[in-house]
Amino acid sequence: MSSRIPQSFINELIGRADILELVGGRVALKKAGSSYKGLCPFHDEKTPSFSVSPDKGFYHCFGCHAGGNAIDFLMEHDHMTFPEAVEDLAAMLGIEVPVDRGYEDRGETQGLLEALVQADRIYRRALRDSPAAQDYLKRRGIDGAAAQRFAIGYAPDAWDTVFGALGRGEAQAKLLLQSGLAVKSDKGHQYDRFRDRIMFPIRDRRGKVIGFGGRMLGDGEPKYLNSPETPLFHKGRALYGLFEAHQRPGHRDEILVVEGYLDVVCLAQHGIEPVVATLGTATSTDHLRQLTRLYKRVVFCFDGDRAGRAAAWRALETALPYAGSQVELSFLLLPDGEDPDSLVRSRGADAFRDLLQRATPLSNFLLDELREQVDLGSADGRSKIVALARPLLERLPRGVYRDLLTADLARVVGLKAERLGALLDSPLERRATPDAGTLQLKSTLIRKTITLALHFPAVAGSVSDVEGFEDVDQPGASLLRQVLEAARDNPEITPAHLVERFRDDPEGRYLHRLAADVPLDDEQAAPEVLRDSLERLVREQQRRNTVRALKNHALGGRSD
Ligand code: UTP
Ligand code: MN
Repeated sequence: MSSRIPQSFINELIGRADILELVGGRVALKKAGSSYKGLCPFHDEKTPSFSVSPDKGFYHCFGCHAGGNAIDFLMEHDHMTFPEAVEDLAAMLGIEVPVDRGYEDRGETQGLLEALVQADRIYRRALRDSPAAQDYLKRRGIDGAAAQRFAIGYAPDAWDTVFGALGRGEAQAKLLLQSGLAVKSDKGHQYDRFRDRIMFPIRDRRGKVIGFGGRMLGDGEPKYLNSPETPLFHKGRALYGLFEAHQRPGHRDEILVVEGYLDVVCLAQHGIEPVVATLGTATSTDHLRQLTRLYKRVVFCFDGDRAGRAAAWRALETALPYAGSQVELSFLLLPDGEDPDSLVRSRGADAFRDLLQRATPLSNFLLDELREQVDLGSADGRSKIVALARPLLERLPRGVYRDLLTADLARVVGLKAERLGALLDSPLERRATPDAGTLQLKSTLIRKTITLALHFPAVAGSVSDVEGFEDVDQPGASLLRQVLEAARDNPEITPAHLVERFRDDPEGRYLHRLAADVPLDDEQAAPEVLRDSLERLVREQQRRNTVRALKNHALGGRSD
């Protein structure tokens, strides 16, 4: 995805972004020398170890090792994806993100969108012409206004409704296959995917149809048929009803997540919204990221049967990193045999709202479910629940919320909160920066040297060649060489640019970690220290070479 946005533009963005303004808008900062300090938003602390350095374009935390440039901050703090963060930064600076798409690619997406719009029109017209389909909706309690608002349609009981209307010519036929509207038989015949089904168009945030869900009018398998994955439609990302929810004026803080198309339509019709559904898939991180950016409270509503409970638990596991002070997550399990659609129809909207009021907060849901798995009457059971809870608690962001939940667990097992906290907080459990990369730097010298080059690119760019440095082959050496080279080639480069340049490089991700290292107290000394470090790296290498040679000699000249 990132390759779609030209690197030159990202560099410009990093160069122009005001990290102080960006972070300062979310974290209280105080000037301290050339940087700014505050309480780290990524872990819980009482004395500030979080610092922002405007001239480097960096933020970093000495406590939890979070760190990076403006794009990283938006990704970590606001849970954005890379393209979203770029988009946001650009909007802040009032500039357009250029899209580096090939002509063909743009043409293809455009073609797919066009085919879907036309199919949508055909399906809606067909609903007006089909008393049987209208009758089905009526029996399901869907009124005309709701059907219109959700653009519900009908795919007639024929093989070529859409294909016949839009599939003329080879290019068009191919487009219909790509859009998922048509399928091809083994014998090569092409025909409509959706036949004799109530059609629910799935729209993206801008309202463009990107796929469909279709329900059988009667009984049979499969009950629902969804569009396949296409360049436009990704089940793990799409949320049915999100566009429609946003069409309503007035922003609410709370959104309801349900399982089915009809649940969404029916609840919305009864005034219970905003409401969205995942499309027959588990709630994904991508879903959560979207929802928690837009809403302060998310209520997951699942059927009360075993499958519903399992789905709720999976959603909980995915949601843990998002839970905390900023977003409240809760769960509503309906009585067995009911779903939101049947319940709101049988008991009415007010009764449903009552249930929503009593949704179980994530913390209680978590503890309740664990409690069911163990016998708290025994020491075995109590230690088991701690073991079960530990990986879950570790997924929660550090902070008050996690502490409170730990305290709750302590009460359940009858331990003092501090004692349990200490048990859970073993030294192994250091927060790992997401995607910190796989590079393990054994030598502190190489780590210090890379840090130095990263923090002082101007110095790194002007350091003269050190003989033998090109032969240093310990882990990190090639990254160091690349950083030095980049600094030499681009006199204007900043630390933030360097981090950006190596974003997709598995080794380069390590630079994020090093952003949090303090390079030197005395900046003036940087050129000398850097040169000295490079020389020491060369000497270390020579020593290793000598040892290796001696060993080989001792083993009778065998090379290793
Ligand atoms: P349910 O089986 O709970 O159906 O599937 P429902 O939503 O209550 O539907 P009605 O009330 O019988 O019409 C929940 C969701 O799972 C997906 C659909 O997204 C559906 O809305 N699903 C279900 C499928 O994708 N395929 C299926 O065959 C069944
Ligand atoms: Mn249902």
